[in-house]
Amino acid sequence: MAADAHVNYARATENDVNDVLNFVMDNFIGEETIGQAVGLTPTASVRQFYSDFVGPSVRSSVSFVARNSAMQVVGVRLAEISGPGDYDQKLERFFAYDFPDEPLMIMIEFMKYVFNRLDPDYTLSKAKKVLVFNLLCVHKDHRRQGIARKLSQLSIDAAKAKRCDVALVIATGFQAQSFYRKLNFEAALEVSYSEFHGAYKEQPIVPKNGSGLCQVLVRTI
Ligand SMILES: CC(C)(COP(=O)(O)OP(=O)(O)OC[C@H]1O[C@@H](n2cnc3c(N)ncnc32)[C@H](O)[C@@H]1OP(=O)(O)O)[C@@H](O)C(=O)NCCC(=O)NCCS
Repeated sequence: MAADAHVNYARATENDVNDVLNFVMDNFIGEETIGQAVGLTPTASVRQFYSDFVGPSVRSSVSFVARNSAMQVVGVRLAEISGPGDYDQKLERFFAYDFPDEPLMIMIEFMKYVFNRLDPDYTLSKAKKVLVFNLLCVHKDHRRQGIARKLSQLSIDAAKAKRCDVALVIATGFQAQSFYRKLNFEAALEVSYSEFHGAYKEQPIVPKNGSGLCQVLVRTI
């Protein structure tokens, strides 16, 4: 995809669902640190798992999509607004998943492990409404042009208008952690991949890019 100076940013709508899901399958799953480490491939289960995030996020009013002049998706910022109690619901959703795909189940096991380590009452202090950043991806040919920053700022502005006071994100690898630090996020929890064994004897997640830690990052907005 040729780099293009004309990038349009818009709030995600129902009409974006398919394009966003296709973009995630083509550009995100093999590149995000955990997906890459476990060798996630675009199976029906993986598509099902990600469609569970894309649908609600797109309806959240805090997700944004960047498209080039040919209207192809070049970046997505999926997010949701979460209130007290939503955290438990989210965890239940993770526990309900049972896919035949082993790499996907390793990833889900790990997310449950991170959520279990996270103490939301402490991490989020007195925050009433939290902007949860679910998924961020920019097409390879369009990186380091400020697209992720712009998409995230649009989401933060929309969340502020809805009286969110804190933003939270799980950053799985070095790229994303550098990005969020630049946006003034701070680590509230760090989980080392080498500590995680889940149901497996050997360390099941060995990041290819050398990232040793998964971080939960927060920022007041
Ligand atoms: C992480 C990602 C979304 C960044 O997108 P982007 O549009 O290139 O980011 P921006 O251009 O807005 O970057 C803003 C700042 O973040 C930091 N940053 C971005 N990518 C970085 C990288 N690969 N390494 C170090 N810092 C980085 C830089 O400080 C950058 O500012 P600068 O270019 O002026 O130095 C993109 O690399 C990506 O899609 N990666 C694959 C998917 C992924 O890992 N998503 C996050 C999952 S938790």
